[in-house]
Amino acid sequence: MAELVNIQSSNVSNPLKGEVRVPGDKSISHRSIIFGSIAKGVTKVSGFLNGEDCLATARAFRDMGVKITETGSNQLEIDGVGMHGLRAPEQTMDIGNSGTSIRLLSGILAGQEFSSSLSGDVSLNKRPMNRIINPLRLMGADISGTDKNTAPLAINASTKLTGIDYQLPMASAQVKSAVLLAGMYASGTTSVTEPAVTRDHTERMLVSFGYDIQTVDNRFALEGGGRLQATSIDVPADISSAAFLMVAASIVPGSDILLEHVGVNPTRTGVIDILKLMGADITLENSRMVGAEPVADIRVKSAPLQGIDIPPALVPLAIDEFPVIFVAASCAKGQTRLTEAAELRVKESDRLQVMSDGLNACGIESQTTPDGIVIEGGKFSGGQVNSCHDHRIAMAFAVAGLQTDNVITIEDCANVTTSFPGFVELANQLGFALELSSS
Ligand code: S3P
Repeated sequence: MAELVNIQSSNVSNPLKGEVRVPGDKSISHRSIIFGSIAKGVTKVSGFLNGEDCLATARAFRDMGVKITETGSNQLEIDGVGMHGLRAPEQTMDIGNSGTSIRLLSGILAGQEFSSSLSGDVSLNKRPMNRIINPLRLMGADISGTDKNTAPLAINASTKLTGIDYQLPMASAQVKSAVLLAGMYASGTTSVTEPAVTRDHTERMLVSFGYDIQTVDNRFALEGGGRLQATSIDVPADISSAAFLMVAASIVPGSDILLEHVGVNPTRTGVIDILKLMGADITLENSRMVGAEPVADIRVKSAPLQGIDIPPALVPLAIDEFPVIFVAASCAKGQTRLTEAAELRVKESDRLQVMSDGLNACGIESQTTPDGIVIEGGKFSGGQVNSCHDHRIAMAFAVAGLQTDNVITIEDCANVTTSFPGFVELANQLGFALELSSS
C-alpha cells in the first residue's frame, strides 16, 4: 500500500453474503514466535497473521539469531534456540506500531545476559511503558525509558532476576505476560494476580510448550528455570478482525454471513456478548478445540440493534473491539453508555476521543467521559475522518459507511495492514463498497 492511503466507504444496496476466513489472531501469532524462538526444537505455525505487528516480532527474534522460515502461505517454521540461546541484536530493534511486541519482548529481554534496546513508531513511542518498567524493576531488571516513561526502552544485561508476587494495577494481558515471561528467567516463583479477566493466550501457550503454570482463580504462578519444548500451533482467525464483519452484517438488512474458524476463547468473546445484548443475531456453529484454543464458525444475520449500558465486566473481554462496537451503537435505537474503559485512551490512539470526533464528524451525537462514551443512535450522514494511524479506527469507519446515504472518507489507512492485511478486498468480496485512493 502507498504511504497515505484513504478508504472511501459508501452504502450498499445489496445484503452482505458469503463465507470467509479473516486473517490469523494477532495475540496468538505474536506468542507463537516468542515461545517458538526460545523453545527447544522446531515449532511449526499455521494460520500465522502476516500483519505488520507480528512481522515486527519475527524481525526482532531474527535480529537475535533465530531462524524463522516461511514454509507456505501463513506457515512458519521456527528453529528454537532454547531458553538461553538468543544473541545480542546488533542495533535497536524497531517494532513499529506493536504494543504487544514491545511489552512481551521486554519481559524476555529483562532476563537476558546481553543488553538491548527497543523502539517503535510515533504512536507506540507515546504509549505508557511504566506499566512494564515498574514490575520488571521490582524483579531486578535494569530497564529504562524516556523521562516520560515511554519507548525507546534500554534494557541492560541482567545479573539475576528474582520472582515477585505482582498485583496487576490494571486489566492488561500484555503486562501480565511480560511479568510471566520474565518469571521464566527469575529465581523462585513469580505470580501475577489480575483485577479482572484478561486474555489468557500466554497461559494456554505455556502449557502447550510444556511449561508448568499454576492457575487459581485470578492468580497465575510459575517457577523460573524451566524449559519450553517445541510444538505445532494452528492459529485461529482473529475475533478482533471478525468483529468488523459481525457489525457490518448486523447493520445491513438481509445480510447472512459465515465467519470461519474464529478463535472464541472466552477471554475474547465480549464483543459477541455485547452485540447480542444489543439484539444482534449471532450464532456459533461447529464449536471445537484447535490445540489449546476454542474455535467456532460464526454466523451473523442482520437484526435491529438497540442501545444498552455496556456491562463493565465485559470491557476487558472486548477491549480491542470498541471502535466497531461504537459504530454498532451509532446504528442502534436509543442511547449506549460505556464506563470503566479508560484503557481505551492508551491504545494505538485515544480510542474514546478519536472515535467520538469521527462519529460527530459523520452526524452521530457522542460525548466522551473520562472513562467512557455516550452515543445516541442515529444515521451516519457521511463525512471525513482521520484514523490517527489507528488500524481499528480506520476499519470501524469503513463499516460505518455501509449505513450512510453519502460517503465516509477515512484518511490515513495504511496501518490497516497492522492487523488485517487484505481487509478492503475481503470486505468487498462480502459486498462492501470500499474504494482506495492515495493522497
Ligand atoms: C494484547 C492485549 C491487549 C490488546 C492488544 C493485544 C495481547 O492489550 O489491546 O491488542 O496480545 O496481550 P492490554 O493488555 O494492554 O489491554
